[in-house]
Amino acid sequence: MSALSKTPKIVLTGDRPTGPLHLGHYVGSLKNRLRLQDTHRQYVLVADVQALTDNADAPNRIARNVVEVALDYLAVGIDPAKTTICVQSCLPALAELTMLYLNYVSVARLERNPTVKEEIRQRGFERDVPAGFACYPAAQAADITAFRATLVPVGEDQLPMIEQTNEIVRRINRLAATDVLVEAMALVPPIGRLPGTDGRAKMSKSLGNAISFSATADEIRAAVRRMYTDPNHLRACDPGMVEGNVVFTYLDAFDDDSDGLAELKAAYCRGGVGDAAVKRRLADILEAFIAPIRARRRHLANDRSYVYEVLRAGTEAADMVTAATLGTVKAGLGLFSLQPIAGCRVA
Ligand code: TRP
Repeated sequence: MSALSKTPKIVLTGDRPTGPLHLGHYVGSLKNRLRLQDTHRQYVLVADVQALTDNADAPNRIARNVVEVALDYLAVGIDPAKTTICVQSCLPALAELTMLYLNYVSVARLERNPTVKEEIRQRGFERDVPAGFACYPAAQAADITAFRATLVPVGEDQLPMIEQTNEIVRRINRLAATDVLVEAMALVPPIGRLPGTDGRAKMSKSLGNAISFSATADEIRAAVRRMYTDPNHLRACDPGMVEGNVVFTYLDAFDDDSDGLAELKAAYCRGGVGDAAVKRRLADILEAFIAPIRARRRHLANDRSYVYEVLRAGTEAADMVTAATLGTVKAGLGLFSLQPIAGCRVA
């Protein structure tokens, strides 16, 4: 067996519980997680502390959304027997690692992170960026490294976070003169990011262009009806454009009949296929996809004690793992310890 194949493949990813999860989360990451939970040790983190960095005024809403996001996970098929689901604010080692890591990243480097920059612009923080927000890439590095994750299934907007995480990993390892931390790799879906139903680059509840897992059949149909197609495709007989056509982007993500879809695209480009027919196909596919998720979600929502038990057990398991990593990092750096043996440098 090669050294590489012996490296345990650990998967960690997280979501900010700022609202219900939606199809954008599914395409960007959940689909990969469903696959990986069968082959990898997988942790999923409900990142409520990170959610607070841009929702400081609404801690109660964040707390309620922790349960909603957990319901989404379970409904979509994240299986707690295979995946450890845990809550960030209940894992003190993550906060401690964040404090340590903040010494290994400069303010200028944090400010250069393109995702953070873009988010600051979107949120209109201007000069009033909460310090927690500016520093969250270091906290995300703590999340990723604490679980010793080697694989992080995320949307492509998260690539700068992984890059910054690995920079911190290398600095700590160099200082400890041994590999106390492991570098991680992002796993980005080939399809990239699912646009919002309005065609904007990002699907988000706050932009009002999302389809959530609890969307009703009517809501799905209405959202699809409003989607942009090709503005020059006015009559069914006109030739249409598939590229940049939101309805086809969604079909690419959710239509499993690739031959049928290829035929439909060809016919649409030639002319003779109306937008209404393409939208009907998409609405049917999305409804068939969401209906069982919606039903499971409704059923689980009546059993909150089960959801809490999943979170409690998952967080307890995660606490052990993350505390162990914190211990290794502190020992590796040679920080003071009240237990002289454990405090010895491991290098
Ligand atoms: N920043 C991620 C997002 O906005 C959420 C997140 C928090 C995360 N901690 C993580 C993602 C750790 C991957 C790994 O979607």
